[in-house]
Amino acid sequence: MAATDGHGAGTGFFTSVEDVSARLAEAGYLASAAVATTVFLADRLGKPLLVEGPAGVGKTELAKAVARVGGARLVRLQCYEGIDEARALYEWNHAKQLLRITAGRDESWDDARGDIFGEEFLLARPLLTAIRGDEPTVLLIDETDKADVEVEGLLLEVLGDFQITVPELGTITATRHPFVLLTSNATRELSEALRRRCLYLHLDYPDAALEARIVRLLVPGLDAVLADGLVQVVGALRAMELRKAPSVAETVDWARTLLALGADTLDDTVIRDSLGVVLKHQDDIIRAAAKLAPA
Ligand SMILES: Nc1ncnc2c1ncn2[C@@H]1O[C@H](COP(=O)(O)OP(=O)(O)OP(=O)(O)O)[C@@H](O)[C@H]1O
Ligand SMILES: [Mg+2]
Repeated sequence: MAATDGHGAGTGFFTSVEDVSARLAEAGYLASAAVATTVFLADRLGKPLLVEGPAGVGKTELAKAVARVGGARLVRLQCYEGIDEARALYEWNHAKQLLRITAGRDESWDDARGDIFGEEFLLARPLLTAIRGDEPTVLLIDETDKADVEVEGLLLEVLGDFQITVPELGTITATRHPFVLLTSNATRELSEALRRRCLYLHLDYPDAALEARIVRLLVPGLDAVLADGLVQVVGALRAMELRKAPSVAETVDWARTLLALGADTLDDTVIRDSLGVVLKHQDDIIRAAAKLAPA
């Protein structure tokens, strides 16, 4: 499938919104209707998908699940402060270039220069790897907000046109569009230019029914009534003014803890003794424990 223009070709992983929900569920990811619809549109329109939301609500896992379902390789660019072009896009293999120059010592500089700026001397980093491959690919640009704002400039060509321009070499265009998913915790505003090139999904804590389904799927050994109770408690904790509200990841950890402890009811003592699994700050633990009946 040749790329015709910026967003001509979709990735073609899914046939319908229902297909997204069903196959993600088989792969262990339970998507709300909003999530399934946006994933379907991103796939169909061939547009990158920006997923923003608090920590631990399943942003990164969504990209992994799409890759599993699509039979695609997952190429991941983990963003961090100070990440640059050489880590994100490509860099020249200087050692190999030097060897080539030394080997052709009698050559004129113009000939050597023509040689050493060829594709075989490029070291592909995640963005170039994802653009260049022929196989189905999911490109995960994780924690985009951790990268410096200049890095967004580097992303625009990839997100808008599925291509990368290497000044010495020319423009490398994707022959097959990857499914691109960017995540952000919104620790800073991403630029309008970046947002404009993406579909947007705000992923928040799931509602109680969905969270209980997630727990039952991931911790099948846990009693269903206990799972429901656990989700209620987590919901109550989220409603409190805490430094760090528990995420889905913590709900699942808590469920595994209860299973490991062999707990059959969720009484105040069990909750108190295992609060460190869901709350990660001492002030939060004190505040939550104060709401429980005295031990
Ligand atoms: N809808 C879901 N279906 C199944 N599992 C889920 C779902 N949402 C969250 N999880 C579970 O929560 C865990 C944490 O999710 P993930 O690592 O994707 O969070 P995140 O949003 O990327 O967080 P962070 O911003 O901290 O990186 C996953 O490993 C998975 O077990
Ligand atoms: Mg993540």
